Amino acid sequence: MEAKLSLLVFVLGTMICCSFCNASVSLVGDPGMRRDGLRVAFEGWNFCNEVGGEAPGMGSPRAADCFDYSSSSLNHLVSEDDNKLGVGKPFPGISPSALNNTDLYAMEKELFLASLCEVADKPTPWHFWMVMLKNGNFDTKSGLCPENGKKTGPFPRTGRFPCFGTGCMNQPLLYHQQTAVLGGDRLRGSFNGTYELDAGLGGGIDNISFYEVVWEKKPGSGSWSFSHRLKTSKKYPWLMLYLRADATRGFSGGYHYQTRGMLKSPPESPNFKVKLSLDIKSGGGPKSQFYLIDIGSCWKNDGSPCNGDVLTDVTRYCEMIINPETPAWCSPTNLNACPPYHITPQDKKILRNDTANFPYSAYHYYCSPGNAKHLKQPVSTCDPYSNPQAQEIVQILPHPIWADYGYPSKKGEGWVGDGRTWELDVGGLSSRLYFYQDPGTTPARRIWSSIDVGTEIFISDKDEIAEWTLSDFDVLAPASH
Ligand SMILES: *[C@@H]1O[C@H](CO)[C@@H](O)[C@H](O)[C@H]1NC(C)=O
Ligand SMILES: *[C@@H]1O[C@H](CO)[C@@H](O)[C@H](O)[C@H]1NC(C)=O
Ligand SMILES: *[C@@H]1O[C@H](CO)[C@@H](O)[C@H](O)[C@H]1NC(C)=O
Ligand SMILES: *[C@@H]1O[C@H](CO)[C@@H](O)[C@H](O)[C@H]1NC(C)=O
Repeated sequence: MEAKLSLLVFVLGTMICCSFCNASVSLVGDPGMRRDGLRVAFEGWNFCNEVGGEAPGMGSPRAADCFDYSSSSLNHLVSEDDNKLGVGKPFPGISPSALNNTDLYAMEKELFLASLCEVADKPTPWHFWMVMLKNGNFDTKSGLCPENGKKTGPFPRTGRFPCFGTGCMNQPLLYHQQTAVLGGDRLRGSFNGTYELDAGLGGGIDNISFYEVVWEKKPGSGSWSFSHRLKTSKKYPWLMLYLRADATRGFSGGYHYQTRGMLKSPPESPNFKVKLSLDIKSGGGPKSQFYLIDIGSCWKNDGSPCNGDVLTDVTRYCEMIINPETPAWCSPTNLNACPPYHITPQDKKILRNDTANFPYSAYHYYCSPGNAKHLKQPVSTCDPYSNPQAQEIVQILPHPIWADYGYPSKKGEGWVGDGRTWELDVGGLSSRLYFYQDPGTTPARRIWSSIDVGTEIFISDKDEIAEWTLSDFDVLAPASH
């Protein structure tokens, strides 16, 4: 009886899956990264996802490389003068309040660059893939980052956040090789740079931080290949580099301003999948939290969508960390690092104190929003400073319980030397994760405004380098959806 039932479930599941696969629509502007006329942009974030101060001579840390391609030639849509625009310099459409404010200026510069890159499409026009680079240094004496969205004054430095001294929250040097035709019929372009403003890249990258994204493609065939490198240094031991598909309007994960991006219709749980190819060449050491994949959204604790009010908006993340060296902090003796419960693919709820059944080793760390009013003890609240508002993070690890969703199910899957093409049922998995909500409120619609892949090297004690290639990125939903 039981065998027959599971066979029936299997057959039904296959039918549902096949109808999904055959009749799916892409939610991104450039399905599978196959469009010769590339749209890619760069954004630099400080510890709380703002700019703070611009790096001298670099302009505001927003840049783009967008071009149309035909008859073997490129028509660039964004000039290097546009990319160098920095606070105080006007551009078409800028509002007076943004002109002299580095944070607002960057936000409006992103909208301006997007207007140059925009591709008309249905249901909405779209703009670019986004390379996101973030400096994890936090100078608590700077007063730059709010606490769970509340403005807070400077406070003394502790060992908790890395900072070598005044200026540690700087934006990086940014060099841009505009996409051009290389010999051998290939298109190639890049962004690279370092946070060590005094050193620069002239003397190589020994002892300094470094980031680089190189994109390459043979016109008319295949996907763009995005090769990434990220290196930490003594002064910059915590760095993040991701390639993001962000919503084309509204907020994107972790960003409380209007954004521009690739996701024509932001995907909603449970009905979407993410397809991509990932080849990691170098992992970035034991602290490298490589995300295959990170999804970000925002909703309030009462389940309503975010509206830009940083006191009540809450960023929500789900991140699968595939570094096999990343331990599960969640354990039967450390329940505060586990979500209150796990839901199986068969929709069975397992409480975290059910030590015989809870999959502890599937969770690296769970933390609750710092502004939640009805938390269940024991609890660990998320870092209050590293987003413009409170945040909630579910970090998971490869484990057999995720296999049903096509996620890595064993340590080492997808890691160095195991390059693969993945088709992840991100919608299915994210629909069954625990996220905090106030008791008695209507469950939030889980609409994801940001999907990204890359690594967060989380306070390395020596210089580490991560290196990976990403291609074929797509987000698919059933056609009827
Ligand atoms: C911006 O700064 C410039 C020069 O510092 C000044 O002339 C201008 O009035 C300022 N504009 C606004 C809107 O504050
Ligand atoms: C960074 O990119 C520039 C081109 O913009 C290139 O000349 C330089 O070699 C790159 N630096 C490193 C260290 O790869
Ligand atoms: C990097 O640091 C090491 C150790 O301090 C030193 O021996 C080496 O010369 C440095 N390399 C460069 C290029 O500065
Ligand atoms: C587990 O937690 C639930 C709810 O938090 C509680 O009702 C139950 O008594 C706990 N079980 C054990 C064995 O501690």
